[in-house]
Amino acid sequence: TTLRPRLTVIGTGYLGATHAICMAVLGFDVIGVDVDADKVARLNSGEVPFFEPGLPELLTKALETGRLRFTTSFREAGEFGDVHFICVGTPQRGDSGAADLTYVDASVTALSRHLHRRALVVGKSTVPVGTAARLAELIRATAPAGDQVELAWNPEFLREGFAVDDTMRPDRLVFGVTSAWSEERLRAAFEPVLAQGVPVKVTDLQTAELVKVAANSFLATKISYINAMAEVCEATGADVRDLAEALAYDERIGGRFLRPGLGFGGGCLPKDIRAFAHRAEELGVGQAVGFLREIDGINKRRRSRTVDLVVELCGGDVAGKKIAALGASFKPDSDDIRDAPALEVASTLAGLGAHVHVFDPAAMENARRAHPELSYGTGALDVARGADVVVLLTEWTEFREIAPEAMAQVVGARRIFDGRHALDSGAWRAAGWEYRALGRP
Ligand code: UDX
Repeated sequence: TTLRPRLTVIGTGYLGATHAICMAVLGFDVIGVDVDADKVARLNSGEVPFFEPGLPELLTKALETGRLRFTTSFREAGEFGDVHFICVGTPQRGDSGAADLTYVDASVTALSRHLHRRALVVGKSTVPVGTAARLAELIRATAPAGDQVELAWNPEFLREGFAVDDTMRPDRLVFGVTSAWSEERLRAAFEPVLAQGVPVKVTDLQTAELVKVAANSFLATKISYINAMAEVCEATGADVRDLAEALAYDERIGGRFLRPGLGFGGGCLPKDIRAFAHRAEELGVGQAVGFLREIDGINKRRRSRTVDLVVELCGGDVAGKKIAALGASFKPDSDDIRDAPALEVASTLAGLGAHVHVFDPAAMENARRAHPELSYGTGALDVARGADVVVLLTEWTEFREIAPEAMAQVVGARRIFDGRHALDSGAWRAAGWEYRALGRP
């Protein structure tokens, strides 16, 4: 293990914290860096500041080995590390859809100043293609070790809710490098992962940057494709669930990411396709990915269509009606509410005068902070008490398992809208419910 590079991870959000913790568990000496002193203190005391199954246990384990610590000091990180991973966020900047690179630039500059010997800086954040080349210049200009410091790109594909598994056993690793030395350093930094037979694609910086946005664009396209079919189903009385199932038997198409419903949200897919479309326009190839604007549009229409259907279920007006909203996070097994379809729907219904009562198994605190206009309850049956309509917005397992008879006891009217095709429509209808879903008769 003495030959193993010492690692630093800059940024301790979903991506960085998971990467730092997993790498320490795999046997590396790791320092995690964040400008947020509170986050650093929480992590050092063994607390993961967000919901991610399995991660708290691994953090405890990693801290016990003494191989992991967190700091706010870039100087400490610069002196310690051989390989530095940049894992800070790249949110959407304004309405143009462009990516905001403030955190990437700031963290690379802050680190670079303290690089006095040969080191590798590895970008993991999702960035517009061309950013890596610019950062390489920035490092060369600001690092005391000058061109002894190299830059590589290693896009990250982890999914929230599966972050640990995706980090320990990714489908593939992509190394964007400019020298044999960088490749060798990256291979050393991922040695235990590669030892499991994980495939690695070595390429140039710009291809590595592009792999990430191309992958997320493909996934978003697949979801919006089936949701577009749902729109057509609605106009014809066809059933998008049966349609999706029938398509999935074709191995060329496959059933994954073909689940119709309220559409995609979260901190990645929506902003990544917008940033990609924006960057392509800057590069003069906007036409090539013009369909991404359409994908975004289809996705947004699922939210407004959901609101329309709920209004329809309530007899044309939701003002004064009590609505039980099940789910707030952008997907199950997450407390992340960034661009969450569930909360957008709930908040729009509240704006139309409805009394919306929300319950989510993990995202209550985040939802309350972002949407104080909504009411919050203690469980699915609690928010359903006296409701005129129940709206399922995030497909948590505990919502799937609700017995229609039990919920029928507490509601004001047996009307349910299933925004995620998560329920057995037959069972709910048999229990006397009026059941509605997007793209189904
Ligand atoms: C995604 C990518 O999967 C991951 O590789 C990338 O690194 C980051 O972005 P994540 O945002 O964690 O990961 O969520 P994911 O599981 O991909 O789901 C994205 C959204 O799509 C969710 O809102 C989910 O509800 C929705 N979705 C997913 C569908 O509506 N239908 C599907 O069939 C699949």
